[in-house]
Amino acid sequence: MKGIVLAGGAGSRLYPLTQVASKQLQPVYDKPMVYYPLTVLIASGIREICLISTQHDLPRFKQLFGDGTQWGISIDYREQEKPAGIAQAFLIADDFIGEEQVVLILGDNIFFGGDVFPRAISEFQGGATVFAYHVTDPERYGVVEFDRDGQAISLEEKPKQPRSNFAVPGVYIYDNGVVQIAREMKPSARGELEITDVNKEYLQRGKLRVVRMSRGTAWLDAGTSSSLHDASAYVQTIEKRQGMKLGCPEEAALHRGFLKIDDFEALVSKMPNCEYRDYLAGLAGEVRRVGLSAA
Ligand code: TTP
Repeated sequence: MKGIVLAGGAGSRLYPLTQVASKQLQPVYDKPMVYYPLTVLIASGIREICLISTQHDLPRFKQLFGDGTQWGISIDYREQEKPAGIAQAFLIADDFIGEEQVVLILGDNIFFGGDVFPRAISEFQGGATVFAYHVTDPERYGVVEFDRDGQAISLEEKPKQPRSNFAVPGVYIYDNGVVQIAREMKPSARGELEITDVNKEYLQRGKLRVVRMSRGTAWLDAGTSSSLHDASAYVQTIEKRQGMKLGCPEEAALHRGFLKIDDFEALVSKMPNCEYRDYLAGLAGEVRRVGLSAA
């Protein structure tokens, strides 16, 4: 399975922060926002990743990640000329996807807790898998309605009168048919190729699986100044309490076996002195002492 991080968009709600650097490059406590979704992909075992962003911001992402080999993965880059919708990602990256299945994650979605994504990806059999998360403000998102048996029966994009409190977060898993679906789609009234329309198509075909995320998991979307601040505060609280970092691609790559401990240590030795380096050096020491599964 291949992975796409969609990190374009206007980021207008974060003005003036986004005047010079895009939303997904803003710090969420101690690392750039895009580290968190990228780490979700790595922790799910995805090794081939394509990052899509604007012409203006792509050079900065390339500076940040390079070709990914330092983490034992590969990162390709593609440009989205205009924010013409999330589903456009499948057209922009069709040559990258090739004949494979694909998981798309939005560059400003932050998740913590549980193993819902690695599990859904390893269980994936075809069709589409999306997720449902209970929120107080469903009207801001794609909303999924369930029947009494827990089967998804409708999907609506930003409905004025939501039929449930279950929003669809920005992680979507598809079989290869998604590319053709995106090719045949028409833009919505707001001029976008809507991801909700892709999901509706799978629902109509009886091929949509909706996994409810349990209450212990956190989904934060850092699209406004106050939600960005909340996300930072949340990460700081958890990291301080546990002494473990969230959204750390090096650590996920080590755990997944994409990086061997020698390469991991070599990578850490090149970092400047900072808390991030101290953390990874501590982790390397722990892995040397007690092994990977216990660390
Ligand atoms: P949004 O938060 O809907 O839009 P935005 O990032 O442009 O922000 P604002 O509303 O403040 O102007 O986008 C959700 C995510 O999807 C975000 O990471 C940007 C990304 N995105 C694209 O990369 N391309 C697109 O065409 C769209 C619609 C979104």
